[in-house]
Amino acid sequence: WGHPILYWESLDSTQEPAKSLARQGASEGVVVISREQKAGRGRLGRTWLSPEEGSISLSVLTRPNIDPSLLQLLSLSTAIAVHDSLKELFNIDLELKWPNDVLFRGAKLCGILIEASSEPGKVHYAVIGVGINANLSPQILRSVDKPTTSLKAILGKDVHRGKIIATLIRKLEKEVKNLEKNEGITECIQKYSKLCSTLGMKVKVEQNDQFTVGTATGISPLGNLIVKMEDGSTSTFAAADITHLK
Ligand code: BTN
Repeated sequence: WGHPILYWESLDSTQEPAKSLARQGASEGVVVISREQKAGRGRLGRTWLSPEEGSISLSVLTRPNIDPSLLQLLSLSTAIAVHDSLKELFNIDLELKWPNDVLFRGAKLCGILIEASSEPGKVHYAVIGVGINANLSPQILRSVDKPTTSLKAILGKDVHRGKIIATLIRKLEKEVKNLEKNEGITECIQKYSKLCSTLGMKVKVEQNDQFTVGTATGISPLGNLIVKMEDGSTSTFAAADITHLK
């Protein structure tokens, strides 16, 4: 993966050229990077801040040979790849918040957005978008309404973005390829569960304008979140918005 890398100084969102290449039949491993995004997109229709001064914004075109029911696992594999890259490069311990946030001491460092096209039994493509707050300054971090951090804030110095991108692409390829084997799926769930700070927490789960509260107890074989509700029943959530309560 990473051949070719298509680099822009400025784009609305790296997801768009990556998806358009996917629809035109480009092979997997193409990476789109932009120094800044003018309309970076987050999950659930949110915006993602990607100023020129210090973001990492990239989208990787993948064509995983997996059943579409396993697409949620791509988020978990990507979060593992981000975790492992930043551990290897900077020796920092990050937490994974289900399904696809990477946090440092409760503050968001990285977001993941996956957009896929599939038919029953086959994934045509999945574009994995990763945004990492690399060298964002304290002023920019303060302008975000949720606890947010950057590598610069954690390490107290600027980081080299190219090195992070190269390491991440390598690890992402390894993790995503692993999902094509049954034992790789089990490994992914086990590894994610170890790193996931959501497990054991009291959580608020929001879905379709409704919310429920319970305790997150595990990750299902499809990568969904298992929650023990306050009435003692157990529910499994596929793509909800989670708030950690304690
Ligand atoms: C989220 O936390 O809601 C997901 C944020 C994903 C941001 C990345 S940056 C690269 C790619 N391009 C986008 O517009 N979004 C993703």
